Amino acid sequence: MNSFLSRTSYWVLALFLALAGSASAQNATTAATVTKQGVTPGGTAGAAPATAAGGGDAAEIAAGDALFKSNCTQCHAVNEKVVGPALSGITKRRPISWIIPWVKNSAKVVASGDDYAVKLFNENGKQQMPSFGLSDKEITSIMAWITSQEGQATAATGGPTAGNAATADGQDAGAAGGAGAGAGKYADILLIVLVVVLIVLVVTLVIIANLMKDVLGGRKDLDGRDIEILEQRFDWAGLYKSPVLRGIVGVVAALALLYAGVQSVMAVGLTQGYQPTQPIAFSHKLHAGVNNINCAYCHTSVYKAKSANIPSANICMNCHSQIKTESPEIKKIYRAIERKQPIQWVRVHNLPDLAYFNHSQHTQVGGIQCQTCHGPIQNMEVVYQYSPLTMGWCINCHRETPLNTKGNAYYDNLVKLHDKSNNAVPFTVSSNGGTECSKCHY
Ligand code: HEC
Ligand code: HEC
Ligand code: HEC
Ligand code: HEC
Ligand code: HEC
Ligand code: HEC
Repeated sequence: MNSFLSRTSYWVLALFLALAGSASAQNATTAATVTKQGVTPGGTAGAAPATAAGGGDAAEIAAGDALFKSNCTQCHAVNEKVVGPALSGITKRRPISWIIPWVKNSAKVVASGDDYAVKLFNENGKQQMPSFGLSDKEITSIMAWITSQEGQATAATGGPTAGNAATADGQDAGAAGGAGAGAGKYADILLIVLVVVLIVLVVTLVIIANLMKDVLGGRKDLDGRDIEILEQRFDWAGLYKSPVLRGIVGVVAALALLYAGVQSVMAVGLTQGYQPTQPIAFSHKLHAGVNNINCAYCHTSVYKAKSANIPSANICMNCHSQIKTESPEIKKIYRAIERKQPIQWVRVHNLPDLAYFNHSQHTQVGGIQCQTCHGPIQNMEVVYQYSPLTMGWCINCHRETPLNTKGNAYYDNLVKLHDKSNNAVPFTVSSNGGTECSKCHY
């Protein structure tokens, strides 16, 4: 009996470990894929793989899904505004004959004086959407994918469903710089179910064991050895001393340590999500969001120079010599000026010295929105590091982003050469050498 019980408990334990292991491995892989695609605020994370729901055929939708993920997710989601508008319902708002030229070259559509385009452009703070070297068919497939997501969108926003929770979570995770998406949640649920099943299993085994004991105890034909075994109490101390159990505990502990070690090694230099407390409770949400102050009003050099400067106290005084003069937080600005000492803001983003990053190249020349790299700053009370700022992050974007070459004579010849040799592939930053080591390393 004793050995039967302890043997089953080993099996149960082993089974449990195996299941827990596979569940967490699954968790880890989903997290990894999500990070690879770049965490976009909310959006597609909760959505299930495309099914042929919206009429178009599955292959077309799948192609559209892939194209959308590699070209559009930085700025668009189906159901919410990211940098550009939510694209849900776009095929009802606009005919495909408008959408195709728009995606190919939105600036041209705006310049043509198209009422809708001009209004859209102005409503979005005159941000120019980059041009895409996609074919008509590719753009149609993206639209088919968007349409297929719309049905799921209503399901997700329609009520207190799991889909709803998953989207909200996706957003939180994005905000925390993490990457747990809908899929990660399923792994968690699976794990909980497994644990419950195992507990039920163990309880059942104990009940069976007790029943057998009772039944056997009633029998008269047992010999001395059987009775001895029967009357033996379950030997916890023996289990504790058992070399097998000690072995298992040892192995588990070693694996846990190894896992923690690998995690911390992988995370060296990775400061995504970093959100230090600042000396003055300055809120981007209040200034850039509610009061809609332009980023460059304070970060004056961001379109002109390598570095986006942090505003000096004088810039604050343009307003705060009048506004909220009695606030203790604002008095800290006055004190800094009286003492002729700069406010000691804590730096959030910091690349290592070996890497070269230039803001004007990206914001002015490349036309990339601040939010693409810094996230929804206009909603942040306290700024945090939204993107991983790893080399892989820089390079992925360079591989995927078409160069904003329109109206830039410098690129005319290069584009012509590229199109001649390699018509199908869009002219991306990396086609122009943006993945060469020396571009980013001194
Ligand atoms: C760098 C950001 C960015 C990327 C990448 C981007 N867009 Fe846009 N998109 C915008 C902005 C901003 C607008 C709003 C119009 C404007 O300001 O020019 C917009 C508008 C649109 C509109 C019109 C929306 C409406 O409500 O009428 C469509 C359609 C569209 N984009 C499709 C796409 C597709 C398809 C892709 C991928 C191939 C894409 N966009 C990639 C930024 C982007
Ligand atoms: C009223 C002035 C003001 C405006 C407007 C403003 N910022 Fe800032 N920003 C600051 C100050 C002050 C800091 C330093 C304190 C902090 O980190 O909160 C800062 C910090 C930052 C940082 C972190 C810098 C670091 O330490 O790495 C980023 C990124 C940033 N701002 C982006 C933006 C973007 C994007 C916008 C527009 C949507 C914007 N800011 C609008 C004043 C401003
Ligand atoms: C363009 C005008 C403008 C500039 C520049 C500006 N602010 Fe403000 N600030 C405001 C407004 C408007 C409010 C909101 C006042 C209110 O709530 O009534 C505000 C509120 C604040 C508050 C909250 C005060 C409180 O107690 O509620 C702080 C702190 C603050 N600003 C700090 C700064 C700092 C630091 C700078 C410089 C980096 C700065 N502001 C630059 C307009 C500005
Ligand atoms: C292509 C990605 C990208 C875009 C677009 C971008 N930034 Fe940055 N930003 C970075 C990186 C990377 C750093 C860290 C730079 C470093 O440590 O040298 C940074 C740092 C900053 C800082 C800290 C000061 C500095 O220069 O190190 C501020 C402030 C800032 N960004 C504001 C902005 C604003 C405002 C915009 C939009 C006008 C913007 N950024 C657009 C990637 C970007
Ligand atoms: C969101 C997309 C995006 C991210 C993220 C990004 N870049 Fe870029 N980068 C661009 C685009 C687009 C251009 C091309 C601008 C142009 O010249 O038209 C560019 C150009 C450059 C160039 C000039 C390349 C050349 O051929 O001259 C350098 C250097 C560069 N990036 C460095 C970086 C570094 C370092 C990082 C990471 C810290 C980074 N970039 C992250 C989009 C990005
Ligand atoms: C688009 C910009 C970009 C390009 C191109 C690029 N790097 Fe990097 N690299 C970075 C950034 C940013 C970092 C720092 C971020 C980090 O440590 O993850 C970095 C870090 C490194 C590091 C230090 C790694 C560490 O963990 O400290 C090495 C080594 C390196 N790069 C080698 C290369 C080589 C070799 C190439 C050419 C094949 C290359 N890089 C091309 C942006 C780039």
